[in-house]
Amino acid sequence: MRGGLSRRVPKIADVLRGALTGQDIELKGWIYRTRTVGGKAFVVLRDSSGVLQVAVSRESVPPEQFEGAEKALIESAVTAKGTVVADKRAPGGYEVRAKEFRVVSYAEKFPIQQDLSEEFLLDVRHLWVRSQRMASIFRVRHTVFGAVHEYFRGEGFFEVHPPMITSVGSEGGSTLFEVEYFGKKAHLTQSWQLYAEALALSMEKVYYVGPSFRAEKSRTSRHLTEYWHCEMEEAWAGMDDVLKRAEGAIAHAAHRAAEENADDLKFLGRDPKVLASVRTPLERITYDEAVNRVHAKGMAFRWGDDLRTFEERALTEGMTQPLIVTHYPRVSQAFYKRRDPANPNVVLAFDVIAPDDVGELVGGSERELDLEYLKQAIVEFGEDPKNYEWYLDTRRFGNVQHAGFGMGMERLIQWICKLEHIRDAVPFPRTPARFSP
Ligand code: 4AD
Ligand code: MG
Repeated sequence: MRGGLSRRVPKIADVLRGALTGQDIELKGWIYRTRTVGGKAFVVLRDSSGVLQVAVSRESVPPEQFEGAEKALIESAVTAKGTVVADKRAPGGYEVRAKEFRVVSYAEKFPIQQDLSEEFLLDVRHLWVRSQRMASIFRVRHTVFGAVHEYFRGEGFFEVHPPMITSVGSEGGSTLFEVEYFGKKAHLTQSWQLYAEALALSMEKVYYVGPSFRAEKSRTSRHLTEYWHCEMEEAWAGMDDVLKRAEGAIAHAAHRAAEENADDLKFLGRDPKVLASVRTPLERITYDEAVNRVHAKGMAFRWGDDLRTFEERALTEGMTQPLIVTHYPRVSQAFYKRRDPANPNVVLAFDVIAPDDVGELVGGSERELDLEYLKQAIVEFGEDPKNYEWYLDTRRFGNVQHAGFGMGMERLIQWICKLEHIRDAVPFPRTPARFSP
């Protein structure tokens, strides 16, 4: 269901679709732009669905209403009644000729006028969320979240929720946020992973979309300290099985956005046709092959190192859909990733890498099943296995092959909307430098 547009009260987008031409309607909104020419005020209104011109002429409304239309500043809240007409001169090709125009609330002078520097817009983010740019992104975000839920539910997954306050992390201590918990040390969740492995032995196919926290100092265009994480875990499944789920979820979200938000995507500079044409299976290569490709481009890279932004960019150059890299070297990988029985130097882990400089969209793996090996890996990871006793019970009771992944929702939205910076994929971004407004 499309947000806002499915209700019976007409919205601006309905007018712009040509659905209400000739009809009398009532609009509620905020002044986006205004200018007066002779006896006419042209007030561009915005609501949650778009912007539309309302023409208020001196002859058609009572004098105090015309005066209101003339003097109300931008972001004043108004209601207007009038007739929808198609008019090529109006932005978007339609306007409402007002019969009634009421100012509900006169705005003070809006602070966002000339200065549109990134820093300033982040300072006034609570007001900038009203911009057409942010509203377009919010509508796509709404579609993408809906699509991800739809995909997993359609595949028979249960939505199950992990705690946000945790005793141990899964992705390494350096990015854990500490919380003072009644005199004890707790953490904000980095990933639902360990809980998901416990839950998969109950509900078999589980997924969830919720916040994850990373105390990551990296100031890059793809890191947030608080992001929304879509994670899934599946029992009786291996890497290849969940890899297909990752492709499926990405393709479904891309298709849904292309169907439901074509105008917003175009406005943001993304051709919806590119998204509509995403096809699975995505191209799949091994880490070894990725290293070969990086070398073939004349770049220095050592086998065993992590693929960084630099290499990910080179690997996806010129591509229009994401690339999957499998079989990463075991060194420097989280303890739970399963060794490849065919080659103990690599793990059955994969990343999905998006083009357009977004990089790693998904990280997933098959999970290590061997209890003793896992304890050893936890030690090598620099952690105390004692803290993981409850988790290790998954290997003691009904241990079966299982696998899962995590996908950064803001990275997915960044790619779908072709955003330069991940912070615009979320209404109120949290980065090392800022947690306000
Ligand atoms: O690769 P990561 O760290 O993997 C995990 O957390 C696994 N436990 C997931 C699992 O198997 N259940 O994170 C998964 C994804 C990344 O691929 C990336 O898209 C996103 O989460 N991500 C971030 N997004 C925004 N800002 C950050 N700081 C992110 N860190 C990870
Ligand atoms: Mg990763």
